Amino acid sequence: MLLALATGAEIEAHLERSKTVVIPIGSNEQHGPTGLLGTDWLCPEIIAHEAQKTSDLLITPTFNIGMAQHHLDFPGTIALRPSTFMAAIGDWARSLAHHGFTRLYFLNGHGGNVATIEAAFSEMYAEASFAGRERGFACRLRNWWDLKGVMPLASRLFPTGHGSHATPSEIAVTQWAYPDSIKSANYAPQIAPTGPIREARDFRARYADGRMGSDPGQASPEKGGELVAKAVEGLIADVAAFSAA
Ligand code: NI
Repeated sequence: MLLALATGAEIEAHLERSKTVVIPIGSNEQHGPTGLLGTDWLCPEIIAHEAQKTSDLLITPTFNIGMAQHHLDFPGTIALRPSTFMAAIGDWARSLAHHGFTRLYFLNGHGGNVATIEAAFSEMYAEASFAGRERGFACRLRNWWDLKGVMPLASRLFPTGHGSHATPSEIAVTQWAYPDSIKSANYAPQIAPTGPIREARDFRARYADGRMGSDPGQASPEKGGELVAKAVEGLIADVAAFSAA
């Protein structure tokens, strides 16, 4: 069930069955010459929305702006500084906890978000500890590519040029869901360079077209469909395990 298309009464009924909620979370940032700006929030959203068609999962609206300061020299990128991001994650989580959700599962689509999301969890756990709250509240962060079976499949589909930003995997997932928005370009070099992530000026100087280590030319909607199917399977199993733990 999608929270945005449900009523308050339906959420109340859901809470009778389950205290778990899934929050797709990502970032709106440049993804090279052919990747969509929404790639990092679209991927977890696509997977979560697909999973709720066959499983009793409740999916919140997508948290679609994240920690993307290093991409700011590319137009279209929208970023939250880590302190703002942490504060916003905290209030999303507190709102859901207020209704009685005790298992908050964040399905993430952006590596740059990880440190801040984990810090936001630590902040909330500290609040519970200092307030001496009863046990039972838990958060989980899972990157969609870390769901069971996804990386082995990605390695089979893209043995070289997978990289870490504007990867053929993530671009394939968006191509599967949004075939009308598939773009093409000539990549030079075919496989982008790799290196550190610092601030925006440095990022653009190192990665001229925005990619890191990737050759997105290998993406196809068919490969995206395979990745989504594997991720959906992994997500349903992982959420069930988290709900029971
Ligand atoms: Ni990405």
